[in-house]
Amino acid sequence: MSSSHVLTKYDYFEKRGLLAPKPKFPFGNCKGAYTGKQNIIYDLNDIYQQFRKKTSFVGYFEAKTPKILVISPDVAKDVMIKYFKNFHDNEIASLFDKEADPLLARNPFVLKGEEWKEKRAEVTPAFTSTRLRSLFPLVEEVLERFKNYVHKEIPKNEPFDIREISAKFTTDVVSSCIFNADAHSFTKEKPEIREMGRKLLDFTSSGAQFKFLILTMFPWIRKFHKISFVPKAVHEFFINLMEQAVTMREKSNIKRDDYLSYLIELKKKKNLADIDMAAHGVTFFTDGFETSSLAIAYMLYEIANDKRVQEKLRKQINEELIDENGKIIYEKMLEHEYLDQIFHETLRLHPIIMFFNRECTEEITFDCNGKDFKIEKGMSVNVPIYSIHRDPDYYVNPTEFVPERFDAENGGVKEFRNRGVLMPFGDGSRICLGMRFALMQSKAAVIEIVRNFELSVNDKTQKPLKIGATEIFNVKSGGLWLDMKAIK
Ligand code: HEM
Repeated sequence: MSSSHVLTKYDYFEKRGLLAPKPKFPFGNCKGAYTGKQNIIYDLNDIYQQFRKKTSFVGYFEAKTPKILVISPDVAKDVMIKYFKNFHDNEIASLFDKEADPLLARNPFVLKGEEWKEKRAEVTPAFTSTRLRSLFPLVEEVLERFKNYVHKEIPKNEPFDIREISAKFTTDVVSSCIFNADAHSFTKEKPEIREMGRKLLDFTSSGAQFKFLILTMFPWIRKFHKISFVPKAVHEFFINLMEQAVTMREKSNIKRDDYLSYLIELKKKKNLADIDMAAHGVTFFTDGFETSSLAIAYMLYEIANDKRVQEKLRKQINEELIDENGKIIYEKMLEHEYLDQIFHETLRLHPIIMFFNRECTEEITFDCNGKDFKIEKGMSVNVPIYSIHRDPDYYVNPTEFVPERFDAENGGVKEFRNRGVLMPFGDGSRICLGMRFALMQSKAAVIEIVRNFELSVNDKTQKPLKIGATEIFNVKSGGLWLDMKAIK
């Protein structure tokens, strides 16, 4: 088989003796997603529920493409860690064309094989603890803007869409940390960087959805026609932004051991082209602002929804995390147990990336219920982290928000990660590159808001929370609405 998209007959799994739900033409087992009725994670979760406890993985069809859905966390770990060399590429890589979308296609997330290895090695040193620490003053500046914005808006007596303001925060943080630019998210109605960022990742527009559909159903089209997702104006905007950032930094006397200075060194050392520099910036921007803003929004939502957790956290923040000048104590923030439990419990319930799709890069045989099953090169293997995170075999009352489930006597967060049942950042060699940056900006935002404001959920929030049908990330329909009251 040359690629995972080879059209195959629906008896593919039956012939090979692997359990699989019955597919139906033309959508296979993902009718909900293809007809726009529900997010694909709900189709996958239905399959997961049907086969939970029965087997360690099953076959299923996305339209006419056969894929594997992992059920057991042991197999998930095998795919992501132990047999990484057999599954080292993300399936999404095949959707982007390097020439048509140079900014997105240079992101490690979508790169394959040696190119991925090289780019990942290039970016990794940018995230050392010293560099992260040197970014914190920039984060603190934005925290001040965040707090002042909420104070200013409170008299309007309207609920806050916490997603929207969390996105203002992360957009300002990320633009300041990479592009050295103030994005003006809290002051302008439609700040340009944010708008451009939105357009860069707007895969939910009807045009982009159509392109995705075409590419997944007729992948061979790419051979004849290069399909681009990023509009030209957006492309140019980010190249200019990065150029300006580099020029300004080089002209100024600022000596900061941050991400931009690292990129400037890299540019000199490796003779990087402008497009490579811009792509580095865009990688940080695209991977950093939306994912973290969702994490912050869900943390604040869950804290607002549970007065007990809110009061317990506020007390600990005031007693342990703030110094005599009213500043966050950076080192303590990073290692604070309860805050870390809240972070992980939030991402257990609301993993921002809901499943990982790895492409089999080298044929391998796995045992499934005592029978061998050969996973062919090109086949996609899907790990539905959303379902594993909510499996009652691993979590008591899995739909409830209980940060204490990660208490030390239960082994702490680490134990759940080791068992492969908690993977909000993925695992193995492709684990999220920005994890520590994400933890830093998310925890800081939560501390600042919880110490200054009393939070409660406003009825405008549509319950039960439901993931939007066409969303790529875990985004709930209708927004997350909170009331916020200043603490005197
Ligand atoms: C709470 C926020 C975040 C979450 C939940 C998150 C989650 C993830 C996940 C699940 C993956 C895939 C891992 C895998 O396939 O095993 C990933 C990859 C990645 N993330 Fe994050 N991420 C977050 C924030 C960030 C930030 C802030 C950055 C950059 C500053 C970033 C950069 C990346 C990159 C470059 C990859 C691709 C890694 C590779 O394929 O080698 N992420 N992230």
